[in-house]
Amino acid sequence: MLQIPKKLETRRSHKVIQFFLMRSESWSKENRAFSIYWSTSHMITTAQVMRLLATMRGLDPDICAIAGAMHDVATMETGRAVDHAARSIDFIKPLLHEYNEANEKYKITDDEIALLSKIIPQHSNKNEFTDNPYVEILKDADALDRYLQGVEAKEAEMPRLLRVLFDLGIDAEFGLRYNYI
Ligand SMILES: [Fe+2]
Repeated sequence: MLQIPKKLETRRSHKVIQFFLMRSESWSKENRAFSIYWSTSHMITTAQVMRLLATMRGLDPDICAIAGAMHDVATMETGRAVDHAARSIDFIKPLLHEYNEANEKYKITDDEIALLSKIIPQHSNKNEFTDNPYVEILKDADALDRYLQGVEAKEAEMPRLLRVLFDLGIDAEFGLRYNYI
């Protein structure tokens, strides 16, 4: 029997991404640690990496994608990156309540908001490993997406990056399977 659904459930994560893309029009362009282009690109691609890893790990791809989309919410909203993981707690609940009011049919539940409020503030500690699969997947997806976006990996996140690349069939022992033209 075919175990893979023909269609993934992704509607709410797309709605959340659209909510932040609309908000990005009012974000100040001045004094940002990262450009709005970078922030919105990383938001969308981390969500997609989360969907991929979630399907591999048997986690809910839609709520994982929402975590990926929102993980840098403090940086996105304020332009400041310092302590952005810890500061995300000021934004997750109020912004998701605002999102819920505008998206009656695609609400994020209180339990899901609690999950996001637990895992997003922990995502910067890439060298800490936990037994919570949702905490781990967000750290993994952030490290992998930054790498795929061309950001140099920090030494402290290399064990995590190598682990997630290995999970994807990329073995550090053999190197990356491509050649520059
Ligand atoms: Fe990130």
